[in-house]
Amino acid sequence: MPAVPSTQTTAQPSPFQLDHHSPLVQAYLKKTPRSAAIAKRAREVFPSGITHDVRYIEPHGICVTHAHGSHKWDVDGNEYVDYPGGHGALLLGHCHPEITQAIAQQLEKGTHYGACHELELQWGELIQQMVPCAQRVRITSSGTESTLLAMRVARAFTGKKKILRFIGHFHGWHDHVSFNVTSHFDGSPTPGVLPEIAENTLIAPPWDFDQTRQIIEQHDDIAAVIIEPTGSTWGQVPVTPQFLKSLREITENLGIVLIFDEVISGFRCAPGGAQEALGIKPDLTTLGKIVAGGMPGAALVGRSDIMDRIDHRAAAAGGFEKVFHQGTFNAGPTTCAAAITMLQIIKSTDATQRAIAYGRGLQNALNVVFREESVNWIAYGTFGGFHVFLNPNNIDTTQEQIESGIFDYATLRPALKPGLMMKIRLGCLLHGVDIQPWPGAPTSAVHTAEDCHRTAEAFRKTIRLLKEAGDLNN
Ligand SMILES: Cc1ncc(COP(=O)(O)O)c(C=O)c1O
Repeated sequence: MPAVPSTQTTAQPSPFQLDHHSPLVQAYLKKTPRSAAIAKRAREVFPSGITHDVRYIEPHGICVTHAHGSHKWDVDGNEYVDYPGGHGALLLGHCHPEITQAIAQQLEKGTHYGACHELELQWGELIQQMVPCAQRVRITSSGTESTLLAMRVARAFTGKKKILRFIGHFHGWHDHVSFNVTSHFDGSPTPGVLPEIAENTLIAPPWDFDQTRQIIEQHDDIAAVIIEPTGSTWGQVPVTPQFLKSLREITENLGIVLIFDEVISGFRCAPGGAQEALGIKPDLTTLGKIVAGGMPGAALVGRSDIMDRIDHRAAAAGGFEKVFHQGTFNAGPTTCAAAITMLQIIKSTDATQRAIAYGRGLQNALNVVFREESVNWIAYGTFGGFHVFLNPNNIDTTQEQIESGIFDYATLRPALKPGLMMKIRLGCLLHGVDIQPWPGAPTSAVHTAEDCHRTAEAFRKTIRLLKEAGDLNN
């Protein structure tokens, strides 16, 4: 059986079980009183006081007033090195002058034409030039919409039903992908999702090709396989290039549509995404985040014969019914202006490489701190970001081994002491650094050496606070 944390059917509660009286939490409360007051108001409006599950922080998140470059500021006047970076969309940091100018100029010309315009074409042509598999491009408004459309198009193209997904891989929040991400690894549906949808989803372990092959060979009704080519959670559980090559071969041989979900890795692993970096061409690719220049937008791209399923003329000529797809905000001109500028900069500069190099430098700096502070944590990450393996079971391993993709989800995402992840996040915020919860984050082309130093020191101070409070075993 695939190695998963368990067949648990409920979300792991540990990140949220926080001792509010601990010195670390008390210091955070003292530093962020205005954010606390706004969070209290927000809880009267929004469930959990938030508008995106990943933004959930106990006792409350920071309330941001503005951001610039690699930094942002909260209502209490605190400054932070920013890593969420627009949930990974801002490879060039906040308020990049050329992108800001492009949006401002477009604003004066209108925000929505309800008709075709040349900017959307320029955007699509750039995607076509940069992403190897992009023979055709369909713009959507979010990564979630792109993966939904990819699955629908693959089903229509193959006439088959099932979608094969990988343990822990995230593809947005629509019904087909709302389980087997952080829980429900047995493939059972999360609340509100039809069991019939879950029944038509197969789940495979992305660290075991033999098992994956067996699952594929046991079913003759698979329309598509979808995978995050760098591994789940921004590459927290890396996938080996050999696994992807074997997956490409078997799907090609069996006529199964291979979808790379490059919502994260697109333009981040290389200007042409993971498929360029690895030299493996999928049939379809979902893009989001960076592709829209920090504005709301995304795309589905891929082989023209498959994408023809959304084409009126091809449907008429081929005698098949076209796949249904609309979207009020698809390819809005302000999004296009930002997206074109972003992609042109990525295409013509070393921005992607700079974000990757910063990530590597930060991992090195963090590993020095972890050694000096005598914790068994390991920073790693194969592209444009960093992860911290908290190693609660004290396994004997190295950064290189983790990055080689040999470990499974259960090893790299083991059960932690309740509240530990949240305390690490609060500790970083307390020391002026905003990271993502797992812990880790993407990096940008505008993070500086000073940011790197500040981040490493924030981790050092956090570790010391955690040790003082007895939150670390070693
Ligand atoms: C790999 C991956 N696919 C899809 C999505 C969904 O994208 P969106 O949040 O734009 O709907 C995300 C979002 O983080 C993602 O990381």
